[in-house]
Amino acid sequence: MCLLRLKQRAIQLAFSLLVCVSVLWAIPQEYSEDDAPGPLSLAHAKSVGLINCMKCHNEDFEVPHERCLACHQEIAQRVAEERGYHQDKGEECSMCHTEHEGEDTVLIMLDPEDFDHEETGAVLEGPHALITDCRACHRQDNTIPRTRSQSYLFTRTGCLACHTAPHPGHQDLCLKCHTQTSWRVYLWRRGGRL
Ligand code: HEC
Ligand code: HEC
Ligand code: HEC
Ligand code: HEC
Ligand code: HEC
Ligand code: HEC
Repeated sequence: MCLLRLKQRAIQLAFSLLVCVSVLWAIPQEYSEDDAPGPLSLAHAKSVGLINCMKCHNEDFEVPHERCLACHQEIAQRVAEERGYHQDKGEECSMCHTEHEGEDTVLIMLDPEDFDHEETGAVLEGPHALITDCRACHRQDNTIPRTRSQSYLFTRTGCLACHTAPHPGHQDLCLKCHTQTSWRVYLWRRGGRL
């Protein structure tokens, strides 16, 4: 009787030990916030969380671009399609995007007064080339929503990124009928309607 109990206890003990060991085994090496050079930018403090080091780092605390791109699909997509500002900047994200300086972190360095728009690959033609106010084109309502800044990334491509076609149908290939200089459609003038 007593022996049986002892055996049961031994089995119980062995089992809980096994559970303990396997739990410890499953937890990757933990880092504390004190291991970081400083708090994160406001944009990442909440959305990523400082404690989740490995979302951005590898074991050597480098910053592999794959980690950033895993979350930033909007950038990954543009890199893959070789368009937009990041078309040739798909690596070494941390060269331009710094971290760990808390609310003083300058996550995006862009001076509209000193920006070479050709770097985006977009050639602005006709009346478009004369517009100097970035926000006349990159508006709040046609770019992806951001909490802490205003994005330059359009939600749509082509003319429809900024213009709406007032006629039903013909919602693509605007240049088949229009030019970038005028919406007038001379071929249709003779009483032609859409
Ligand atoms: C949101 C992404 C992100 C998270 C989360 C993050 N870091 Fe970083 N960390 C970076 C970036 C980006 C750099 C490069 C900063 C720079 O060059 O200004 C960096 C730099 C570092 C460096 C300096 C590396 C070097 O070679 O100079 C250390 C150390 C570091 N981080 C530790 C941590 C620790 C520890 C944690 C978790 C407690 C953490 N980081 C969480 C993005 C992150
Ligand atoms: C006449 C309209 C127009 C004006 C004004 C304009 N842009 Fe653009 N911008 C575009 C177009 C079109 C694209 C290409 C979008 C694409 O590739 O999908 C673009 C792309 C960009 C991109 C890259 C977005 C991406 O998807 O990677 C950035 C950044 C940008 N512009 C910044 C600026 C800044 C800064 C200014 C002011 C100095 C400015 N733009 C003024 C039309 C404009
Ligand atoms: C040469 C400097 C440079 C490099 C390298 C770079 N970026 Fe950027 N990034 C910028 C600039 C400038 C902007 C602001 C213009 C824009 O939005 O395209 C920006 C904007 C962004 C934005 C905000 C876009 C928005 O408007 O909402 C994200 C997210 C981003 N970068 C992620 C990345 C990632 C991920 C990488 C690495 C794969 C990377 N960047 C590499 C300079 C850089
Ligand atoms: C776990 C997901 C995740 C990871 C990993 C991550 N980010 Fe972000 N990032 C976000 C979210 C979410 C935001 C906040 C977007 C918002 O508030 O609109 C953000 C914001 C940003 C912004 C500012 C956009 C703006 O307009 O305010 C930049 C630039 C950026 N991240 C670059 C990076 C870079 C570079 C890395 C790699 C070091 C990285 N991110 C890693 C999720 C992530
Ligand atoms: C990035 C935003 C953007 C894109 C993309 C864009 N436009 Fe524009 N366009 C504008 C802005 C801003 C103006 C000046 C204000 C206005 O007239 O709406 C303008 C003006 C024009 C005008 C002159 C209108 C007038 O009455 O003088 C025409 C025509 C035009 N765009 C055609 C096009 C065509 C065609 C495309 C596609 C090939 C295109 N646009 C793509 C932003 C854009
Ligand atoms: C099959 C030809 C065709 C296509 C394709 C087409 N349109 Fe039109 N659009 C017209 C005609 C015809 C008019 C009336 C023009 C006129 O009165 O001279 C018009 C008128 C317009 C006007 C109003 C011009 C004004 O003076 O009020 C805008 C803006 C416009 N189109 C935008 C677009 C956009 C944006 C696209 C692409 C998404 C597009 N259209 C595609 C034929 C076309």
